[in-house]
Amino acid sequence: MILPSTDTGGDPELALVKLLTDARAARRYDIGFPGATDLGFPALAQILTGQLLNNVGDPWDLGHGRNHTKEIEQQVIATVADLLRAPPSRWGYVTTGASEGTLHALDAAWLRYRDLVVYTSTSGHYSIVKGARLLKLPVVTVRTDAFGRMDIVDLRAELARRRERSAMIVATAGTTMTEAVDDVAAITDVCDELAVTRRRIHVDAALGGIPYATLPDGVRPSFDFTAGATSMVISGHKFLSTLMPCGVLIYAEPPAATGGGRVAYTGSADSTITGSRSGHTPLLLWWALNTLGPHGLRQRAEASRELATYTHHRLQKIGWPTALNPHAFTVTLDQPPPPVLAKWVLATNGRTAHIVCMPGVTRDQIDEFLNDLSVSRPIPAQRRRRLMAVQTAPRP
Ligand SMILES: Cc1ncc(COP(=O)(O)O)c(C=O)c1O
Repeated sequence: MILPSTDTGGDPELALVKLLTDARAARRYDIGFPGATDLGFPALAQILTGQLLNNVGDPWDLGHGRNHTKEIEQQVIATVADLLRAPPSRWGYVTTGASEGTLHALDAAWLRYRDLVVYTSTSGHYSIVKGARLLKLPVVTVRTDAFGRMDIVDLRAELARRRERSAMIVATAGTTMTEAVDDVAAITDVCDELAVTRRRIHVDAALGGIPYATLPDGVRPSFDFTAGATSMVISGHKFLSTLMPCGVLIYAEPPAATGGGRVAYTGSADSTITGSRSGHTPLLLWWALNTLGPHGLRQRAEASRELATYTHHRLQKIGWPTALNPHAFTVTLDQPPPPVLAKWVLATNGRTAHIVCMPGVTRDQIDEFLNDLSVSRPIPAQRRRRLMAVQTAPRP
């Protein structure tokens, strides 16, 4: 924690130097949260720091102001929509993050169907229940299967219980703790079988959306618009390393109704959750997507998956209980002891913890972490052998 007034005598320049030095030093030990840090944006420095850019209102309704990046935002939406295989009728906008995207999708579904019930799994992100709470929508929590995915049998039972009600199913492509991917095609099939036609399927693909989209057909999970999604959201500060929180929300088609109408003084449609919107984050997204291109995106995703596999295997070798879902960057492990947690920033839920091998995390960091873990609590050889037998069971 940096306290400029006490640590640096109130000198803002010194405070900044200290802030940057501390942030850079802390980065090495921050391997538990999914923010990529490998991209920098020096080419955008002038425009990011010397120009007000406000994309207030709808991306396709330019409005009165000229200090915006809505044309760039439209390109970002087109690129992300292509990656997620959205139909040509697509619509979307750049949000403050995945949470806002999910809130928008919940609101759009409720505007269409006033008797809406929201379904999500026990592994869904807290933003889903929060969004439903803000909109006063009932939520049904569906069980997860052994791999952490939404349990389709339980979903079927819950949907069947309320067939007369419209349904908003929020699936997750890359759950927060284990990076399990809900089977969106199976969710669509269940809705069809039960004739739940008054429905929306939103996919929270905050972390996994872009990396899974780089996988070839055949191994690419069934998670996108071709599987039945009606809207999807990704976070920009996760895989795309925008360094500032943001997200991209995509719909298969523009929601028939959005909360507000046209606002006279902005000259733009009020189709987004917030009024003023950053014009800088679309620039960061656009720069990342265009300088990397499809090849660069794929390479970064592959490198992260390889590092995750390496981490998982090394944990198995030292006999530390661990799990890794297919295509995941997220390696789950039994919670390390306090001295290790004091040094390394890991996401924990009391029993397990995880490391997310985002672009920017190196093998060298992982090796240092594993070394700390090995010396922290040696595991007896007999227990180690037992654990190894469990962990080498085939993955799905
Ligand atoms: C699955 C999932 N959804 C949503 C979020 C929240 O995303 P944001 O911080 O962009 O709102 C996260 C963050 O980790 C997440 O893992």
